[in-house]
Amino acid sequence: MALFLCFLFFLISSATACDRCVHNTKAAYFSSSSVLSSGACGYGSLALGLSGGHLAAGVPSLYKKGAGCGGCFQLRCKNTTLCSRKGSKVVLTDLNQNNQTDFVLSSRAFMAMANNGMSRDILKLGIVDVEYKRVPCEYKKQNLAVRVEEISQKPQYLAIKFLYQGGQTEIVGVDVAQVGSSNWGFMSRNYGAVWDTSRVPAGPLQFRLVVTAGYDGKFVWAQKVLPADWKAGVIYDSGVQISDIAQEGCSPCDGGDWK
Ligand SMILES: *[C@@H]1O[C@H](CO)[C@@H](O)[C@H](O)[C@H]1NC(C)=O
Ligand SMILES: *[C@@H]1O[C@H](CO)[C@@H](O)[C@H](O)[C@H]1NC(C)=O
Repeated sequence: MALFLCFLFFLISSATACDRCVHNTKAAYFSSSSVLSSGACGYGSLALGLSGGHLAAGVPSLYKKGAGCGGCFQLRCKNTTLCSRKGSKVVLTDLNQNNQTDFVLSSRAFMAMANNGMSRDILKLGIVDVEYKRVPCEYKKQNLAVRVEEISQKPQYLAIKFLYQGGQTEIVGVDVAQVGSSNWGFMSRNYGAVWDTSRVPAGPLQFRLVVTAGYDGKFVWAQKVLPADWKAGVIYDSGVQISDIAQEGCSPCDGGDWK
């Protein structure tokens, strides 16, 4: 048990970057949103259903080797003539390898930072100074969902990804077991938001997630997710949603308030 807790702590401490604090950077945009929807997180075209197509590629410290996938951020451009104070709320779906900006946004998300009637002006600039912070993701009346990936091969290989992850947390561990069994087996992050295992229990499946929450972590138990006849390409309701907000010991941090 002690070993497990140490491992948990390691997973969680390696996944934090004080992203709930306000940070200053520049943001640019991709002219084609297909670039982002085929992004490193592996959401594919499903990304366009997240946050109204307000998608973002984040630098490695935000992407967190995939743990940052599905995280939500609020960005405000700093030119108050051009941009609203509300800014744009985006979901991270891709890795940004360009070191000039922390974020590259879909054009829709980029334009959403601008005041009414000024979206052409912001596009013309192409790159703007912004401030940003992590914010909770809200999926109203929508549970966390599990999509079985096409690469799954029944019965020996299962790959899944999580969609519509609420709250402000990261999934840092996933276990799978047959419904009603306590014989849990772990899944590994394959890439981005995709987890897999080649030891697939038979029958209907339940999942147990380790998520960052409070100052450490907690389990989220989805008791009945995949039916015995689960199929690749299908999205299943997990029956649960995450609303936790992970805290971090970030000092100095303004607690997430805009200046
Ligand atoms: C802010 O944006 C407006 C409209 O694009 C522009 O005219 C102005 O020069 C910008 N101000 C600064 C300080 O960049
Ligand atoms: C940013 O990337 C460019 C091109 O890849 C590289 O030449 C430059 O050294 C990088 N700068 C930093 C600060 O990493």
